[in-house]
Amino acid sequence: MLKPSPLELEDVPAGPPAGTLLARLEDLPAHGGKELVFKDGTLVLRLLVQRFGGGAVVYENRCPHAGTPLNMFDDKFVDITGRRLLCRTHGALFEIEDGRCVRGPCKGDHLRAVAIEIRDGAIYSL
Ligand code: FES
Repeated sequence: MLKPSPLELEDVPAGPPAGTLLARLEDLPAHGGKELVFKDGTLVLRLLVQRFGGGAVVYENRCPHAGTPLNMFDDKFVDITGRRLLCRTHGALFEIEDGRCVRGPCKGDHLRAVAIEIRDGAIYSL
């Protein structure tokens, strides 16, 4: 399946404007992640920020299989090995680097990446 183009958050319902500070790298746990939730009335946008290499990746926190958030309740998104993102609903595994599902019911599909810029140790929406 084709990898979708990165989301520009200001074009998404409940998304923040371009240039919004999403997270500082120093505030992310080593090898860890963080969920971000934006609301506009009844509209909700969930993102996940996950450390990767010396930086981080940001995806919509929505599994391409059934549309649920990957995490159940906390900021933990990786599997027990720490090398892949895990959807806790039906167990799909995703590469952290590009969001590609490598095991599970949505194998070959992708998480939706968010267009970001990392500068001066911080992650901003584009
Ligand atoms: S909703 Fe993620 S694997 Fe089914």
